[in-house]
Amino acid sequence: MGSAVGLGNIWKFPALTGANGGAGFLLIYLLATLLVGLPVMIAELTLGRHARANPIRALRMLAPPGQPWWLVGVIGMLAAFLIMAFYSEVVAWVFVYVWKSLEGSALSSDPAVTEAAFAAMVGNPWVSLVSQWLVLLLIGGILVKGVAGGIEAVTKRLMPLLFLLLAGLCVFSLTLDEAAAGLAFLFKPDFSKVDAAVVLTAVGLAFFKMSIGMGTMMTYGSYFRSEQNIPLTAGRVMVADLAVSLLAGIAIFPAVFTFGFEPTAGPSLVFITLPAVFAQLPFGQGLMLVFFILTSIAAIGAMLSLLEVPVLVLTERLGLPRPLAIGVCVLAVAVPGAGCALSGSVLAGVRVAGLTFFDLMDFVSSNLLLPVGGILIALFAGYVWGRAAFTRAVSNGGTLRNEGLAVVVLVLLRYVSPLLIGVVMLNGLGII
Ligand code: TRP
Repeated sequence: MGSAVGLGNIWKFPALTGANGGAGFLLIYLLATLLVGLPVMIAELTLGRHARANPIRALRMLAPPGQPWWLVGVIGMLAAFLIMAFYSEVVAWVFVYVWKSLEGSALSSDPAVTEAAFAAMVGNPWVSLVSQWLVLLLIGGILVKGVAGGIEAVTKRLMPLLFLLLAGLCVFSLTLDEAAAGLAFLFKPDFSKVDAAVVLTAVGLAFFKMSIGMGTMMTYGSYFRSEQNIPLTAGRVMVADLAVSLLAGIAIFPAVFTFGFEPTAGPSLVFITLPAVFAQLPFGQGLMLVFFILTSIAAIGAMLSLLEVPVLVLTERLGLPRPLAIGVCVLAVAVPGAGCALSGSVLAGVRVAGLTFFDLMDFVSSNLLLPVGGILIALFAGYVWGRAAFTRAVSNGGTLRNEGLAVVVLVLLRYVSPLLIGVVMLNGLGII
């Protein structure tokens, strides 16, 4: 849950739901989560626990000799770096907003004020760059000091608080004048905006939010106890992940319509709308501070899980000492990271296929690499590893009565996920 719940829920989910027309997108995203995300998560956790190894070694061990399934792990590593490049920048924005909360700037129900505050931040190359370096140093420091476990324990304690704060914000947002318009946008499907590219984005979001398609969950699985009930765990993570996203959506969209923001604002959406809500609340400045601190903690938890896979691979495969591996990875993130940090200022004009560097990293990782990784993991678990081994592993060698469930998951892994993602990808990319 520490890995799954992060900026994907609080930042990306509202931004994409707003940009892609609301309820229609939400519905497709929910289907993708249930039909594709959940089975792939179960497959990753089960494979990881069975092999008790990093994703590359796990796939090498379980594949028949000579078949290069370990390449899935390599694609995953690439995805991890691309994700971290822009993710670290969004964490940096959250840090800047912790500072803005202390100052009390950006706290206003006037869209012009909150939009200007965000624009000033992303438009300033030094603020964008230096805050990202601070994030990377912090994450690297946490890993070198070996206190990631401690951070996870803190995250676990504070997550319910974030949940409560979001729930409170929702209740308040529902009292806003245009709450009904916000809810209608979020829950009354209108499929006029839905095309193949939108469906691909919804699938990519499902993968991104559940941290699947690149080996993170395989790594987590390798630390699981043998008695752990994997389908139950995966189901709980999915529900918690959905709940946090929906709360963020219900907190944000009534405010969007009440204060006159654009739902299509994109990456700025959370940062411009929530301060407008806080400005209406008693102790708004303090609550805004608490919100951005809790969000940064959740984001750091997710980011640690992203760095974990490449660090593990460098230490286990190349035998690098852990601090060196961490340093190499952080530097390797900082380079494309700088491209993302500067996308709002000096590199704003540099575009590939119409996308800024920031958007390109996001598109390639979420809409291409994670779904491709997901298809391959589904095919691997469904066909190569095979029915008997999968069923035995999912039901903990027969001690859990998960056999029926295993059949359902296998059908989804063998036929539904690869076909659905495959068709959606080819279509979304305009190939068919
Ligand atoms: N799921 C996290 C979020 O929602 C991001 C994340 C962490 C991730 N680890 C990942 C995404 C691995 C894809 C793959 O913020």
